[in-house]
Amino acid sequence: MKIGVYPGSFDPVTNGHLDIVERATKLFDQVIMTVIHNPRKRSLFTVDERVQMLSEATCSNPRIIVDSFSGLLMDYVNRKKALAVIRGLRAVSDFDYEMQMALMNNKLCPDVETIFIIASPQFIYLSSSNIKEVAMLGGCVKGLVPACVEKRLIEKANN
Ligand code: COA
Repeated sequence: MKIGVYPGSFDPVTNGHLDIVERATKLFDQVIMTVIHNPRKRSLFTVDERVQMLSEATCSNPRIIVDSFSGLLMDYVNRKKALAVIRGLRAVSDFDYEMQMALMNNKLCPDVETIFIIASPQFIYLSSSNIKEVAMLGGCVKGLVPACVEKRLIEKANN
């Protein structure tokens, strides 16, 4: 069984992330979308809320598993017996950061590859931060995030 791990903050998941994971399931038997708590980022949603939204958004694809973890990514990947880490690339500006992570991860665990999937053009401008900013200021994010995420963003904005 070929397993890939797609890690991220997913605060919240966007249609850009879903585009990447759907395409990754054509390469792997199973893709684990795993939410990490990144202490360097201030989050809007708790890890549990993010896992819940991801589960709802991906429930129609049985190849996608949703999970969360804290600690070193390569330890998690080994525990899951995964072959590769999957990351999306939106623009050249993502490249430096992603290359550093991929090289460090490869140093820690030479048997695990990082696979980059180029974001579809309609999603290259999306980030979780700009989605949150627009939604919190009352803007419309329909079509940019799954319906379950849009609903929760509206609830947060009204509280
Ligand atoms: N569509 C929409 N948004 C996308 C996207 C896409 N296709 N691809 C990336 N993004 C956005 C995300 O929404 C996120 O936006 P934000 O900064 O506004 O929240 C941003 O790009 C990148 O964040 P994310 O993919 O969530 O990564 P991250 O930088 O928060 O964390 C990990 C990356 C999880 C891989 C890394 O922190 C990690 O491995 N942590 C574990 C600890 C560890 O092992 N460290 C050593 C690593 S060398």
